Amino acid sequence: MQRSVFITGAATGIGRATALLFARRGYLVGGYDIDEPGLQLLSSDIAAVGGAALVGHLDVTDPVEMSQRLSEFAAATGGRMDVLINNAGLLNAGHFEDISLEMHYRTIDVNIKGVVNGLHTAFPLLKATPGAVVVNLASASAIYGQADLANYSATKFYVRAITEALNLEWADHDIRVIDMWPLFVHTAMTRDVHTGTTESLGIRLTASDIAEAILGAVHPSRSQRVFRQVHYPVGAQAKVFTSVSRFSPGWLSRLANKKLAGR
Ligand SMILES: NC(=O)c1ccc[n+]([C@@H]2O[C@H](COP(=O)([O-])OP(=O)(O)OC[C@H]3O[C@@H](n4cnc5c(N)ncnc54)[C@H](O)[C@@H]3O)[C@@H](O)[C@H]2O)c1
Repeated sequence: MQRSVFITGAATGIGRATALLFARRGYLVGGYDIDEPGLQLLSSDIAAVGGAALVGHLDVTDPVEMSQRLSEFAAATGGRMDVLINNAGLLNAGHFEDISLEMHYRTIDVNIKGVVNGLHTAFPLLKATPGAVVVNLASASAIYGQADLANYSATKFYVRAITEALNLEWADHDIRVIDMWPLFVHTAMTRDVHTGTTESLGIRLTASDIAEAILGAVHPSRSQRVFRQVHYPVGAQAKVFTSVSRFSPGWLSRLANKKLAGR
């Protein structure tokens, strides 16, 4: 039976790199996005490497469309879903009060409601698939609230929390729920972003780095499996920040984040 992966936000960036990598590794890829030309390119690029894909329009904030795409995916996979990757996301950088409420709400809708829609609607398929894995795209901004990324960072704390909770709940159903914590990645999302932390830390990761890390997390090492790793920081910087944050007192975490944000 061919393994299958359902990826939201698959037309560009991390989603596209992940779709191509999983296709090369023999997965049937379901790639979904609001960017249909991007999906057509993904589909032909997957075919060019000898892979199999189905693609379709999906606005993750729309539960009806989510349900339709999942039904089509289930029809193609014989009712299985080995991996769900909740990747679609939006970022708005700047002073909180300078970003319109409408933008804040849209970010909350995509980054939070989109993930809830994916998790809730895919649950029957995941439950029906032995050893299913859910990968949520959180971020290193789920370690400490980020100045100039306040709302985005808060949505990623939501992703962190729901990942931890469902990692416990869904173990009963043999579904492993994990999340990825990359620091800044070179994609369209960060193209025009200039915050204190992008300046102090730089943008060092590529979409391919995250795709490799996702594949590795889906097929974890023995120690990651034994210790039931839930959060996967990506890149040396995110790994250091994750480790330090576990032992750092609140005042020191605040000071470090203040300095990194150039405040
Ligand atoms: N780029 C970074 O620095 C970075 C760092 C950490 C985490 N992440 C997370 O990784 C994920 C992917 O980010 P990226 O850098 O590849 O971004 P990107 O902007 O390059 O790609 C995001 C994709 O999501 C799609 N999308 C947006 N709204 C959608 C919606 N309503 N429904 C369906 N698709 C939608 C876009 O069309 C796009 O194809 C996001 O969740 C992001 O928060 C990114």
